[in-house]
Amino acid sequence: DGKYLVTLVPGDGIGPEVSDAVKSIYKAADVPIKWEEVDVTPEIRDGRSRIPLKAEESIKKTTLALKGPLATPIGKGHVSLNLTLRRTFSLFANVRPCRSIEGYKTPYDNVDTVLIRENTEGEYSGIEHEIVDGVVQSIKLITLEASERVARYAFHHAQQNGRNRVTAVHKANIMKMSDGMFLHACRQVAKEYPDITYDEDLLDRACLRIVQDPSPYSDRVMVMPNLYGDILSDMCAGLIGGLGLTPSGNIGKDASIFEAVHGSAPDIAGKDMANPTALLLSSIMMLRHMGLFDKADQIESAIFKTIANGETTGDLGGKLGTKKFTEKIISRL
Ligand code: NAD
Ligand code: IPM
Ligand code: MN
Repeated sequence: DGKYLVTLVPGDGIGPEVSDAVKSIYKAADVPIKWEEVDVTPEIRDGRSRIPLKAEESIKKTTLALKGPLATPIGKGHVSLNLTLRRTFSLFANVRPCRSIEGYKTPYDNVDTVLIRENTEGEYSGIEHEIVDGVVQSIKLITLEASERVARYAFHHAQQNGRNRVTAVHKANIMKMSDGMFLHACRQVAKEYPDITYDEDLLDRACLRIVQDPSPYSDRVMVMPNLYGDILSDMCAGLIGGLGLTPSGNIGKDASIFEAVHGSAPDIAGKDMANPTALLLSSIMMLRHMGLFDKADQIESAIFKTIANGETTGDLGGKLGTKKFTEKIISRL
């Protein structure tokens, strides 16, 4: 029927509420997408905790998914399903743009960063063991292959988006071998892109600089190992109004999964309080990834106009619930 089939994972906590917002706005905007909704509650297969075959097959088939947040147990339990998805589909680059929203006042009005985190290894290898009583070793895995792959994606992304600088963020002063190799990979790839300036910044210093004045970061893409990107992306979200606003795309060669930076927000789940903007903007990244630029622009501008008009959810100081906010956006399509 001329529609694109896209997998939808509603997710946990506020996931179903913010997914509903996307579905109703897409319906109202007549976006040519048919959602294939799947559940990713882990099941035991071959003695291991895995995402259900149906979900795996759906994403293999559609190669595109929009995903709500998934709760991850702390300190015990199954491996994070988010990590399982990122690894299963080799989603090697996690792109996290963060831009000030015009008309929404924060102490910063000049944030326009793009952060790209390596998405398959680092401290997220999950390889941990207790060597002797009271001593645990956790393996941070850095490979040349994954470092080069994400570095190349970062330069490519910069070039495609008119950003003329790539900054590698690291702690190679301490982790001389692992982060050192990550930097080596970035330097090698930089040679393939003579038109793009390449530089490096220590993670701690980058945090300080960004909170003091984010404007120098609007010309560039930052690329970094997995954990640094996790932390830095929440920090950047804080500059523009919080986690209700920041989108991301997990990009792979054969599939991509778009999701908000935020989690399942158990403190506000089921209360019609969640801001759906982060998942909506993630879906808009997906539309642009698919080449559906007009629909992306149309929905994005309806969202921004609504927020600029002071019609917002509680996290942005407004009085609207998720549903009312969604209706306001629809009325501006
Ligand atoms: P969180 O992002 O869920 O919430 C942090 C704070 O931000 C909370 O106060 C929450 O109410 C608020 N918030 C988050 N999203 C919001 C939104 N859309 N609108 C309004 N307020 C919002 O982080 P957490 O509480 O540390 O994590 C909860 C669970 O989510 C954990 O199990 C964690 O592992 C998981 N998580 C999943 C993902 C993912 O699936 N990609 C990402 C982050 C965290
Ligand atoms: C994120 C989340 C995930 C991460 C967790 C839930 C596995 O915090 O997407 O930022 O640490 O990458
Ligand atoms: Mn995170």
